Amino acid sequence: MNPIRKIWKRIKLDAGFCHEGLAHARRLCAHSASADTESDIYKMQYSILRINHTLEKGLSMPSPRKGFGIRRSLFLMDRLGLYARLYGGQDAEFLTYPLQTLAGYISYTEGTGADVSEVRRKYETLLKEYESLTGHALPDRPAGTQISSSKDIREAARGDFRSLLESRHAIRAYSGEEVPEETIMEALSLAQLTPSACNRQGWKTHVFRGEKAVELVRWQEGCKGFEEQIRTAILVTADLRAFLDFEPYQAYVDGGLYAMNLLNALHYLGLGAIPISCGFKDAKLNEMRAAFSIPENEVPIVIVGTGVLPETVKYATSRRKDISKTNTFHE
Ligand SMILES: Cc1cc2nc3c(=O)[nH]c(=O)nc-3n(C[C@H](O)[C@H](O)[C@H](O)COP(=O)(O)O)c2cc1C
Repeated sequence: MNPIRKIWKRIKLDAGFCHEGLAHARRLCAHSASADTESDIYKMQYSILRINHTLEKGLSMPSPRKGFGIRRSLFLMDRLGLYARLYGGQDAEFLTYPLQTLAGYISYTEGTGADVSEVRRKYETLLKEYESLTGHALPDRPAGTQISSSKDIREAARGDFRSLLESRHAIRAYSGEEVPEETIMEALSLAQLTPSACNRQGWKTHVFRGEKAVELVRWQEGCKGFEEQIRTAILVTADLRAFLDFEPYQAYVDGGLYAMNLLNALHYLGLGAIPISCGFKDAKLNEMRAAFSIPENEVPIVIVGTGVLPETVKYATSRRKDISKTNTFHE
């Protein structure tokens, strides 16, 4: 190609990438939950679900600290109170699940002998508000954590597809036994069956074992309270070299599909697993690239922590929304 045309083509390509970056930035400015959270019922709901999860996650820790979560639960109730005032007339039923989590938290924490009287007081007030907004009492449905035996989970994972999906949970406590390398290889080969755009299979995996896995999870900072439990961590990345200028986000789509299959494959093979976020700002991801030898051309998708299930498995409830809240039929 004529050198001038080549330079011109490159300039156009790079300008296109900048345009994409700016378009994405504009969308973030307009819609991120960090901005004007209270002005939008959905931002409020999403951010409350996030706080709710930190509480149920705390309950599912291998050994929760006595009296943990008091500040967190008070904060959650502040947000629920604000939500009730702003959007209670629009969707008060949304409050059901977080209130049930709080009920689970209070009953667990009182059982440990810790003083949560302030939490209980606020909770009772909120409950009254909930009853007057919805016209009914809080349904008696356990939330917070669930418990199953590893035997039941393994059997369900080998049942039909529904049973596989229903029995998979994010696992934050493991037996400490080492995961055999053959099992990891088998899970990777099952995940390799993932579809990808034009079958390019742009995903990559980096398996970290022992202290190196703990180090990776420590860098991530989202696993406080169970970092030491994760002694096998598979970092899923996607190779930007697989994708063209008109598909700037395809790496995340293909990598995400792969990661989900890997999670299900590990579960199917009888292991516990947990997806661990890599959805960070660029500077933090660069820290990880440098510390864990991840090349610049690979974008981190997610870390999959895995391990042998303990005999009794405790996991966060993480209840799902009704489909009516997430689906739209178009005709
Ligand atoms: C992309 C992604 C990132 C996640 N990051 C974390 C994390 O940093 N720490 C953590 O404890 N759990 C993390 N999780 C686990 C979720 O909290 C969990 O999957 C969710 O609550 C649903 O529960 P379930 O996996 O038991 O169905 C992550 C999950 C996903 C999909």
